[in-house]
Amino acid sequence: MRILIIGCGSIGSVLATAVQDMPEVDRIYVTDQSKDFAVHLIEDLDKAEYIDNENGKLSKILGEIDLAVEAASQDAARRFIPFALENGVDVMVMSVGVFADDAFRERCFTLAKRHRSRIYVPSGSICGTDGLHSASAAGISEVHLTTRKGPKGLKGAPGLAQRGIDVDALTEATVVFEGNARDAASQFPKNLNVAATVSLLGVGFDQTRVTIICDPTTERNAHTLVVKGEFGELKCETHNVPSPRTPSTSYLAALSAVAAIKRILGNVWIGV
Ligand SMILES: NC(=O)c1ccc[n+]([C@@H]2O[C@H](COP(=O)([O-])OP(=O)(O)OC[C@H]3O[C@@H](n4cnc5c(N)ncnc54)[C@H](O)[C@@H]3O)[C@@H](O)[C@H]2O)c1
Repeated sequence: MRILIIGCGSIGSVLATAVQDMPEVDRIYVTDQSKDFAVHLIEDLDKAEYIDNENGKLSKILGEIDLAVEAASQDAARRFIPFALENGVDVMVMSVGVFADDAFRERCFTLAKRHRSRIYVPSGSICGTDGLHSASAAGISEVHLTTRKGPKGLKGAPGLAQRGIDVDALTEATVVFEGNARDAASQFPKNLNVAATVSLLGVGFDQTRVTIICDPTTERNAHTLVVKGEFGELKCETHNVPSPRTPSTSYLAALSAVAAIKRILGNVWIGV
């Protein structure tokens, strides 16, 4: 398999290093708007090559790759996903919050169908998506995501300004948002990826309930997923270690991308 990784930050760097050791991966192309970082990352990765995104070079190698992994930003996702799909290339999307835009999501899903390309969305920094996936084969009555973050992980969110909340002034855990995933997406865009993954798997952006808690006593991101339905009830808690480079990104998100690639490459899929 030949893989293109777009974005060599917290997720992309863990992924590039992991796929270097996978025998099924023959070639790794990496690109990043910060060339120095990408070039430094692949110094010891002999399967890897840096591709400059200038002068249409990315489009030239598109015919040579089997899977493109977007691990950059929503902006990159918006520009690159349709382009890869219409060229018949499978895409793994980490900036999954981009799919909160209904029109963009429908466009991408239609392109994938038309060009027989696949879109993979790893579970990211939350556990319990497997249970939600199974539960969605029958009726679901409730999906509730509670996210707990430290002040740094929430600072600058438009939803805080709307409510007049200064996270640096909080002395105890405080609910800063309660609503549906669609409103959480616009008011707390940095919290968007997990809420989007859960919404896409379950009952959609309007029906998924989201609670966001700012906890000044922690710098770790934690998620509690509660699902109720015909299957019964599940409650799943994830307490994440932040990645060293981007504290707002949980290490588990990078590991979920590595695990997804292993699954794609494998012939035996456990827990699908
Ligand atoms: N699905 C999840 O659960 C989950 C969890 C954490 C992060 N994410 C998302 O995954 C993405 C990557 O996260 P990260 O922590 O690795 O970020 P990061 O900031 O550590 O790294 C992103 C890298 O992408 C590069 N980049 C940004 N825009 C680019 C563009 N247009 N073209 C080329 N390179 C570009 C940056 O220079 C940087 O090196 C983010 O959008 C983040 O929100 C998803």
